[in-house]
Parts: sequence; structure tokens; C-alpha cells
Amino acid sequence: MNRVRNPYSPGAGTPPPALVGRGKQIKDMDVVLQRRLLGKPAKSMMLTGLRGVGKTVLLNEFSKTALRLEYVHEHVEANENIDFPSMVASTMRKILLRLNARQRLAGKVQRALGVLKAFSVRLPNGPEFTIDVEAVPGPADTGDLTSDLSGLLCEVGDAAQATGTGVFVTIDEIQYLAPKDLSALMVGLHRVAQLSLPLLIAGAGLPSLPGLLGEAKSYAERMFDFPEIGSLTPPDAAEAIVVPASDEGVAWDEDAVQLVVDLTQGYPYFLQEFGKQSWDLAPGQNRITRNDVASSVEVTLAELDTGFFRVRIDKTTDAERAYLRAMATVGPGPHPSSDVATLLKKTTRQLGPVRDGLIKRGLCYAPRWGEIAFTVPMFDGFMRRLMP
Ligand SMILES: Nc1ncnc2c1ncn2[C@@H]1O[C@H](COP(=O)(O)OP(=O)(O)OP(=O)(O)O)[C@@H](O)[C@H]1O
Ligand SMILES: [Mg+2]
Repeated sequence: MNRVRNPYSPGAGTPPPALVGRGKQIKDMDVVLQRRLLGKPAKSMMLTGLRGVGKTVLLNEFSKTALRLEYVHEHVEANENIDFPSMVASTMRKILLRLNARQRLAGKVQRALGVLKAFSVRLPNGPEFTIDVEAVPGPADTGDLTSDLSGLLCEVGDAAQATGTGVFVTIDEIQYLAPKDLSALMVGLHRVAQLSLPLLIAGAGLPSLPGLLGEAKSYAERMFDFPEIGSLTPPDAAEAIVVPASDEGVAWDEDAVQLVVDLTQGYPYFLQEFGKQSWDLAPGQNRITRNDVASSVEVTLAELDTGFFRVRIDKTTDAERAYLRAMATVGPGPHPSSDVATLLKKTTRQLGPVRDGLIKRGLCYAPRWGEIAFTVPMFDGFMRRLMP
């Protein structure tokens, strides 16, 4: 097949050629964004799900909706080493400068910039603040993150409202925030919601996210729904494969589609990769057969192994790999951690630090107390191929 016209798009956050199965979340978020502009209460979303299911793609869809509604929008991605207060400061700075550009000299925007200046000055590694405003002491410079963040978010929300618009921030990989930071964020957002201010956050993270909320959980549940984003249903998965090809005048045989759906279990990233490789390797001009799919399996797996799967374990230690390999021996999971320990001839206690490291790095999560599971779908197969 003509590789130039290959429509499939495996990649991190790469928009799929056909975005299927997520209509409900997109519609719901549209309603939430519209309601908040009107000062009405509405729960935002924290998307949770395994690697490669389409959380980032969905967050990006939310952003597009927000921009259409003329929200001021910023997207941030957390990581293991994030300095959350600094991230907030620089994000809010960008937002306020945009608000300022929309409505110069609006008193509330100027004030919020001053509050932000005072907030930033308190931070040990706060970003340089080069805007010429006087710091406004009081609302956000006590040194207590929960209280300061709350103060700052309310000022920004107030500034947005005064400018006749809303602020929308998307936070990806939100599971990397420390529980104390997440908690401060939830308390702050709760205050913003109580004041009906048009400042809204949507997030995406691994399934470990709800557990990280700890004491902030009751706040979080009042402000967010936590929809689980997962693999696509077989009809949706088939659509994700068939529609992009048909847009290019190429047809998939029904049994070929079925094979892809079976092999991928409907996981979006795998659908894109299998679609892409089958297309590239198919000898025909306008048709993809079951045979084409079958003969591309080896190449596709190799591609996944050196890309999608491989990047996850790049920074792991030998002990961590041994742990992951033992999990893979037990099966796809979730597993009782004690089973993994037994296999490694250690106690769960001895393995605690290894397990915690894997969770912190986002490779595993604990679905329930005493259990452990991969955050990457079909990771057990990869570990067995990597360490036969
Ligand atoms: N609804 C969908 N239909 C078809 N393909 C999709 C869909 N959603 C995402 N994809 C594809 O799946 C892949 C992974 O998407 P994305 O990066 O958004 O996943 P993710 O959940 O954010 O993964 P990670 O946890 O690794 O960041 C991309 O190649 C994207 O094009
Ligand atoms: Mg993502």
C-alpha cells in the first residue's frame, strides 16, 4: 500500500485519524465548560486509565472545546521531578498575561498579577517574575501552599470573570503530583467552585490517581468525575481501523479487522500500530486482507517492543526488572504482591522499596491493597519477550 497515504497514527497524544468511542466525555465536558462560563456548578473530569488508551488525546479534545468557547487555556504535563508550586506560578503567569492582552489595564488582572508576584517571591525556586507590577501582599504569600494556592486561584478566577471569560487548565500525567500538592490543588479548586468563578481544571492520569488523593478525596469527588478511559469495544475498535482506510479509498476485509481487534484487545495505541504496519506491508493497492495482518504481526510487535514498551523500562534497575519479570510470569494481572514475592523467594516487605519505586515511576499501580498491576496493557507479554 502507498505508505505516504498511511492514515494511522501511533504516538503519544497523536490525534487519531478517527476518534471513536469518546463522544460521551467530549459532550459532557462541553456542557461543563459552558455551564461554568455561566457561573453554574458543574463537575470537571479527571480521566484515569492505562498507558496508551487515549487520555492525552481526549484532554486535547477538551482544550479544543474550551478554545472554541473562548476560554484562556494552558496545558501542562507533570513528571516525576515536578516542582508543583513553580509550575502553577508559571502557568498562571502565562494565563494572566493573556487575560491582560485581552483587556489591558483591567484592574482585577493587574491585581492578580500582583498576587502572583507575591506568591512567586515566596517560592524557593519560583520563576523569575519580570512583569512590572507591584506585589500584592496578603492573599497568597503566607508560605502555606494550601492557603496560598487557594488565594491565587481565586484571584485568577476573579480576573477571568472580570474579563468576561474563563480559564481552563489541562494537567496531564497528574499522578506524578505529590499527594500534598494534589491536596492543595483540590482545596483551592473547591474554593473557586464555591465562589462560582470560571476557572476549571481537567486532568488525566494513571489508575493510581484516585488513591493518591488521600484526605483531599472528599473535596475531589465533589468537583470531579473520574471516568475510566479504557480499551474500545469491538465495534468501536473496528471503526477505528476501518474508517481511516475507507477515507483513503482502502477497504479492510472483515476477517482482517477481526484479527486486529483480537490481537489488540481494542487498545487504541495497539490499534494504530497494527493499522499502520498492516497498511505498510499489504501488497495490494486498495485492500487489506487477514493474511496481510498475520504477516505483519512480527514487525508490529518489534515496533511496539522497541518503542511503546521499551521506553517504560529504560530507567529501571535490575531489581525492578526482576520484579516486573516475576509479575509477567504470574500473568497479565492484577496480582497479589505476595505471589510475586513468593516467586522471587523474598517477603513482600523486602520487596516494598522495589514495588514502591515501580509505582512512583508509573510502571505499576496498586488496584487494591496488597495487589499490584501493570499500568501498560499487555506488558506481561513484553517482559517475557524481553527476558525469556
Ligand atoms: N478514541 C480513539 N480511537 C482511536 N485511536 C485512539 C483513540 N484515542 C487515542 N488513540 C490513539 O492511541 C494512541 C495513544 O493515545 P494517547 O497518547 O492519548 O494515550 P494516553 O492514554 O495518553 O497514553 P499515556 O498514558 O501513555 O500517556 C495514539 O496513537 C492515538 O492516536
Ligand atoms: Mg498521555
